[in-house]
Amino acid sequence: ANSTVSFPEGFYWGGATAANQLEGAWNVDGRGPSVDDHFMGGSYEKPREITLEIHPDKLYPNHDGIDFYHRYEEDIALFAEMGFNMFRMSIAWSRIFPNGDDAQPNEAGLAFYDRVFDCCREHGIEPLVTLSHYEMPYHLVEKYNGWESRKLIDLFERYCATVFDRYQDKVTYWLTFNEINCGTSRMGALFETSMIRGFEGPASEVKVTPQQCYQALHHQFVASGRVVKLAHEKYPQFKMGNMDCFILSYAATCDPEDVFANQQEMNRMNWYCSDVQVRGAYPFYAKRYWAENGIELDIREGDLEDIAAGKVDFYTFSYYMSSTVGTHADQETTQGNMTFGGKNPYLKSTDWGWQIDPLGLRVALNEIYARYEIPLMVVENGMGAYDTVEEDGSIHDQYRIDYLKSHVRAMGEAIADGVDLVGYTWWGPIDLVSAGTGEMRKRYGFIHVDKHDDGTGTYERRRKDSFFAYQKIIKSNGAEG
Ligand code: BG6
Repeated sequence: ANSTVSFPEGFYWGGATAANQLEGAWNVDGRGPSVDDHFMGGSYEKPREITLEIHPDKLYPNHDGIDFYHRYEEDIALFAEMGFNMFRMSIAWSRIFPNGDDAQPNEAGLAFYDRVFDCCREHGIEPLVTLSHYEMPYHLVEKYNGWESRKLIDLFERYCATVFDRYQDKVTYWLTFNEINCGTSRMGALFETSMIRGFEGPASEVKVTPQQCYQALHHQFVASGRVVKLAHEKYPQFKMGNMDCFILSYAATCDPEDVFANQQEMNRMNWYCSDVQVRGAYPFYAKRYWAENGIELDIREGDLEDIAAGKVDFYTFSYYMSSTVGTHADQETTQGNMTFGGKNPYLKSTDWGWQIDPLGLRVALNEIYARYEIPLMVVENGMGAYDTVEEDGSIHDQYRIDYLKSHVRAMGEAIADGVDLVGYTWWGPIDLVSAGTGEMRKRYGFIHVDKHDDGTGTYERRRKDSFFAYQKIIKSNGAEG
């Protein structure tokens, strides 16, 4: 049935991707190795492994991705066919500065994104560009242990200044760090802050202390503040956003102990980073949190001023699932993106254990908007699932359509509630390499890609049933959700 809610005119509909998960061409045209190029494939049961050297006889799924590097024209045309007016993508830092600290940027890398942005423009698609999506030149891991080092601030600023200057007429919407709040966790240490120097073996065994995590995050906050400030001063047409992995959690029971534990967890997981990036200062609860967790931040002169000067213009987040937080010993846990949370008996999960909760998206939108009152975008939402290709080549992914529609309806309701939501980009509109597991069979796309976990496949693109469902939703500006 048609929903009674309506989306504002000019609402952005699209899809979201990350360079390392789709481009492939990892060592082409001067690109340097990136963190993700050192990750092998894993699965739900088996964590990805990191190798210090890249072994020619081992399989690294990100090396070829889905070969967007050579097929972007076909892919962007398919996005346009669905009706996209926004495409979220990221720039691979190591295409621009192969080692991160090179004297000059790599022209062939810069030229590639010129072609991609031009192609988007030809189709009337607005690019939304993440400056750092779970990667950095591997050289910076070896030399500095990623964001643990303050040195990264200058290097990141120089990379951003380079791409701002180059693409100022082609890109208006920018996000600094993908899911920056994951930097508070071990998973974040792998992807978000890349604190894995010298590490070889299962990624799940990487050890990092809260001190390291929060110091690395501090460096990212300063870097984010500086580049947002630079953008506002030099390119007033730019709109700068943050990006959080919003893990909505509920108190597992109405025991006040659980309610309190959940409030603390929401502060730690969801609000800590966005309070800094949206309000321009560490939140009131930070000091106690640092003290109780043995965190002593090295905050240098000028850092807090940079953070204050770099408040973002809009708030963006990923939303896949919700979880519960409780204090009772019998609480069951479930898996999720970058975190483990409590099981919720009222919700169903995906095959990877992510709890599906469309109403939670409406809750999240209301909570976030109440706190910040700036425009919001849902820049990732989606469902990883096994797909079956029928003999005639069709793919009947009704589960994905159900997930999509229920979340679109939830957004429509939140807009009717009064939330200033301006855009929605589905995660992985085309199948791509999973960040968490490195799998291809964990598929998110409306477009199927013939590539398999053993590295075989023709890379052929196929429209799934969900392709047409999303096309209808976009055409009716959300009404067919
Ligand atoms: C988000 C990341 O956490 O979730 C993406 O920003 C990631 O990079 C997405 O791909 C889905 O997670 P996964 O592990 O299923 O790929």
